[in-house]
Amino acid sequence: MSAAAVNTDEQAVLTALASVNDPEIRRPITELGMVESVKVDSGTAHVRILLTVAGCPLKDTLRTDITAAATTVPGITAVEIDFGVMSSDQRQDLQKRLRGGAAAEPVIPFAQPGSRTRVYAVASGKGGVGKSSVTVNLAAALAARGLSVGVVDADIYGHSVPRMLGVEGRPTQVEDMIMPPQSHGVKVISIGMFTSGNAAVVWRGPMLHRALQQFLADVYWGDLDVLLLDLPPGTGDIAISLAQLLPTAEILVVTTPQAAAAEVAERAGAISLQTHQRLVGVIENMSGLTLPDGTVLDVFGSGGGQTVADSLTRLTGAQVPLLGQIPLDTGVREAGDDGTPVVLSRPDSPAGKALNAVADRLAVRRDSLLGKSLGLSPARK
Ligand SMILES: Nc1ncnc2c1ncn2[C@@H]1O[C@H](COP(=O)(O)OP(=O)(O)O)[C@@H](O)[C@H]1O
Ligand SMILES: [Mg+2]
Repeated sequence: MSAAAVNTDEQAVLTALASVNDPEIRRPITELGMVESVKVDSGTAHVRILLTVAGCPLKDTLRTDITAAATTVPGITAVEIDFGVMSSDQRQDLQKRLRGGAAAEPVIPFAQPGSRTRVYAVASGKGGVGKSSVTVNLAAALAARGLSVGVVDADIYGHSVPRMLGVEGRPTQVEDMIMPPQSHGVKVISIGMFTSGNAAVVWRGPMLHRALQQFLADVYWGDLDVLLLDLPPGTGDIAISLAQLLPTAEILVVTTPQAAAAEVAERAGAISLQTHQRLVGVIENMSGLTLPDGTVLDVFGSGGGQTVADSLTRLTGAQVPLLGQIPLDTGVREAGDDGTPVVLSRPDSPAGKALNAVADRLAVRRDSLLGKSLGLSPARK
């Protein structure tokens, strides 16, 4: 874009560099103002690259990609890359560009009219019902279907999403924009990435609100098809903040088959009545465990998911379906501990199949909903 390339060889190299994406921002380095200059001298391309931050961990990837791209140009036999770092002005410029023009003020892209991102907030009444496991599996399954997917781990009390997705890196910051680390094709931001070690977080409502707002506005998500939010259990402050920040977020309720859990899940779901958010459906997790002899053991009882779906349908007057029943399966826990969700590591296991089937039901782009009266069916008598 701003790079100085004077002769045709140099122009050809610059054109070739347009195929190189910044590994973090995932946009062409030429568009990001990262190519400062290109000079060609008897078959050697001298390229000067400006990194967004000093000590960028992905420098080697860039070096490899740039070398590969430049040597596709006929006559270029060698590439020499010199790395510099953007000035503060250049970074601000980049930030503006990423935010799509003049507006330097952080806005929540998903809350803008015309946003095509479907936002699913995963809620539960209690902790430990598998909310995070369901979130990461749906995210990985949707990414595997070619969708662009992000996850916000907003469970301040039990942030576990990065481990379950095998995300180790910390987010990089460009000015006040945060680049989310990515794993299995899923972009991830977790409150755990901003606290030290395993320290417990005691945050009050306004701080939570601010944190959620930052995750939504200051993180560079790019064009997402789906954003999943792993909410803390219960009906607390975060649910209210979410409704204010992202009124179009749709709620997915996770419960176990147990009657007691179902009652609590119902309360969490009923919040949507006050916030006027759509309930996408209920997912029952930890359903029957299939024993080696083929019999099914209902460790946590049965029927909870359907009960919650039925009462939320009655309560809201809109159809709230039971989207799936995920069986108890040791593979879910093992995969979570390994950082590769079971939908990827063992897609043919009972839980893998059930989770993939739910993902299929959710893999619908927002614009394809236009004209459909989803969630607007008349109240039943
Ligand atoms: N379907 C399942 N089968 C076996 N273990 C599961 C299943 N779902 C979740 N788990 C395990 O149960 C524990 C709690 O799940 P988690 O997703 O962390 O719940 P939450 O986010 O609701 O607190 C984790 O150790 C997880 O691996
Ligand atoms: Mg959790």
